[in-house]
Amino acid sequence: MTLQTRTNGTLRHLLTLEGMTRAQLEALLARAQKFVKPIGEPPVQSRSLDGITVANMFTEPSTRTRVSFELAAKRLGADVVNLEVQLSSRVKGESMLDTIYTLEACHVDVFVIRDAEAGVPGLVAEHVQPHVSVLSAGEAHLSHPTQGLLDALTILQAKKKFDGLKVAIVGDVKHSRVARSALHVLTTLGVGEIRIVAPRALMPEAGEFVGCERFTSLDGGIAGVDVVMMLRIQKERMATAQIPDADRYFAKFGLSAERLAKARPDAIVMHPQPMNRGIEIASDVADGPQSVIRDQVRNGVAVRMAVLEAVIEGRH
Ligand code: NCD
Repeated sequence: MTLQTRTNGTLRHLLTLEGMTRAQLEALLARAQKFVKPIGEPPVQSRSLDGITVANMFTEPSTRTRVSFELAAKRLGADVVNLEVQLSSRVKGESMLDTIYTLEACHVDVFVIRDAEAGVPGLVAEHVQPHVSVLSAGEAHLSHPTQGLLDALTILQAKKKFDGLKVAIVGDVKHSRVARSALHVLTTLGVGEIRIVAPRALMPEAGEFVGCERFTSLDGGIAGVDVVMMLRIQKERMATAQIPDADRYFAKFGLSAERLAKARPDAIVMHPQPMNRGIEIASDVADGPQSVIRDQVRNGVAVRMAVLEAVIEGRH
């Protein structure tokens, strides 16, 4: 955690939301909100990252996170390079750190890293030069800090508060970095009740999500909640098939309009995407009036602008 902050108290790296203070999180959300514009209007642009170079290094697939980090950096005036893992030397055996040192020699200031292996963003953060920042764009099943921030911002916009809210996180909680980062940020920001709803095989270990009530039935789990956060089934993180076929999964854990009626009438529906329509969520719910899924994407750009600006501003 101390690795994330400079001695002057400013944010240097963003590797996890766990252990960040409420004040730090609120400051990032407030900064992000200034970058939010309604969909359809021109985006906010500034020059606060003039002369800065950002490298996106994604060794796992990504659409939204990679594109939004790239757009965020460009809208602040930075230069951006995207490393395609298939093209990079990592496949030739060059170590991750050698790639980092090469890019540092090309004056890269910020590394945005997504990796399926736990510990990679932290390892890089320990080895970069003092002026360089590392932002995690998703670390194994463990954390996805900018996703947690955009989820918190989306909830705040819709509900205007965190205190007293009931949030249900539904689906493959066991393998979800999105759920873990949501837990960290929402707990610190004062959400009263976080429930996890999953089939037994996709429940996290008992030592995790301490304090969250656990439900193995969707109807019970979402009864009366303000926020329903659906998750994708992470087949790529399962050694063996741990879930029933798609139809049976939808019948038990899929969010249909009928099921959603068990939540509060003004409940919002979230999903980090990519969505498996018809497996974890029905299309009419994903595209329906309670869905804030596109707001999450819009907020993702704003949050990544805020984080980039904060880590660069803190260098001075
Ligand atoms: C998520 C991820 O990669 O962790 N996607 C995202 O960043 N929006 C969720 C997922 O892949 O299911």
